[in-house]
Amino acid sequence: MHEILEELDRRREQARLGGGPKRIEAQHAKGKLTARERIELLLDEGSFEEWDMFVTHRATEFGMAETKLAGDGVVTGWGTINGRIVYVFSQDFTVFGGSLSETHARKICKIMDMAMRNGAPVIGLNDSGGARIQEGVASLGGYADVFQANVLASGVVPQISLIMGPCAGGAVYSPAMTDFIFMVRDTSYMFVTGPDVVKTVTNEIVTAEELGGARTHTTKSSVADAAFDNDVEALACLRRFFDFLPLNNREKPPQRPFFDTAERIDYSLDTLIPDNPNKPYDMKELIVKVADEGDFFELQEDYARNIVIGFIRIEGSTVGVVANQPLVLAGCLDIASSRKAARFVRFCDAFSIPILTLVDVPGFLPGTAQEYGGVIKHGAKLLFAYGEATVPKVTVITRKAYGGAYDVMASKHLRGDVNYAWPSAEIAVMGAKGAVEILYRAELADRDRIARRTADYEKRFANPFVAAEMGFIDDVIMPHSTRRRVARAFASLKNKDLKNPWKKHDNIPL
Ligand code: HXC
Repeated sequence: MHEILEELDRRREQARLGGGPKRIEAQHAKGKLTARERIELLLDEGSFEEWDMFVTHRATEFGMAETKLAGDGVVTGWGTINGRIVYVFSQDFTVFGGSLSETHARKICKIMDMAMRNGAPVIGLNDSGGARIQEGVASLGGYADVFQANVLASGVVPQISLIMGPCAGGAVYSPAMTDFIFMVRDTSYMFVTGPDVVKTVTNEIVTAEELGGARTHTTKSSVADAAFDNDVEALACLRRFFDFLPLNNREKPPQRPFFDTAERIDYSLDTLIPDNPNKPYDMKELIVKVADEGDFFELQEDYARNIVIGFIRIEGSTVGVVANQPLVLAGCLDIASSRKAARFVRFCDAFSIPILTLVDVPGFLPGTAQEYGGVIKHGAKLLFAYGEATVPKVTVITRKAYGGAYDVMASKHLRGDVNYAWPSAEIAVMGAKGAVEILYRAELADRDRIARRTADYEKRFANPFVAAEMGFIDDVIMPHSTRRRVARAFASLKNKDLKNPWKKHDNIPL
């Protein structure tokens, strides 16, 4: 018996070494941790339960029959993050470059199936050379199985990808179908076709980093939601992020202890809006002042900065925030910001996370680039996302809410539950100047007259009271009491029950 136990120990020891000490050294030399080291940092100490440690591939060609390594390039299993269950797979670059074989894919699908059955999120740590070249189409089949599992899990359990090395070719489409993608700067990249193919086909000369590094995907493509400096930082931030999410679509978001009072008054907010309506201010100041302990996890920080999205907590409960940012493009909605916010609103709605919308929007960005790019369809995404969302929706208009953008930003008409405005709000079809130029075109030469008309229009329409008189705004609130009012609003909506009519699925303008 003793020998059998020793044999198990020996096999485990061997499996834990992955591709062996030399390749582990090479991994460390690149500034990367190994698959198992990463899991150790991600999960609570001692909580990881590994599965399929002894699985090997079944390929025989290209001398593969003689090179079998336990685990087959991916470490899978489950554990906890701050006590809450999560299923994890972590690709092991030291074993065949973390490439995906038939059995490697099967291991991933197995934990995804279990995550679905048990209502727990899935985190994938990606570090892979792509399809296992020696296996050919068997590997492609494996990828497709993972893709299918991603699709079925979407909206049922949260799926998060952390890209910690190469992720190229069709392999990118598994992370692409997960809810959030995070990347590690300098050591990770994602692209459908690499720099060599790009050069051959388009004559463009580009490095892997330029083509698909973290900077590219957080600033240009919006493929990634955030980037971190190294593996350790990325894993620590992922733990923090995980705490905002519910385990599945049947649960409410976690309730965390908080050390802030919902009654907190902040007089500095009374002077947040500049006297000059054309002067910008930083909407993030308001977000941080509304949040428990000022804790805000921002997503897509460097992309479409005219809209801000991310998670906060109010009285310990997760709230998704969508806010126009007057500092960038005056807070206009455009293609990029509409897409960015729409996806976020849909995530929140799918996972019962209430949405706080902070509005200061002068309208949709005009121009041929926007129209040719399809701002009609893309803007409609955000409108659609808000309109279909049944989670509690609280809206605060701080300043401008003009035109169609007023309707889009979680207005009362899109089933906003509680819609507040600050006294500085201007809810109108458009700004006074634009309105007067259209209404009184014949008088444009007479500057004094136009100035009077503009002042008159401002007086009549550039305020929250016209909308409040119609019941489109539930109350005009003092800026300093925003946290208190918002917290009370969400508290009152705790048992909200609203259902959309039955359908197979909707047809959001993709
Ligand atoms: C099998 C692979 C592999 C792969 C790497 N390795 N990629 N083995 N299949 N796809 C092995 C290498 O042979 C090497 O083995 C070890 O992993 C480390 O690789 P290196 O090349 O030494 O590492 P590095 O210099 O860091 O380069 C990493 C890399 C490069 C850029 C990822 O390995 C590479 O270009 N690999 C091929 C990428 C590729 O074309 N994949 C297929 C894409 S198509 P030893 O034994 O020497 O340590 C695809 C389609 C998916 O993925 C479609 C889904 C629908």
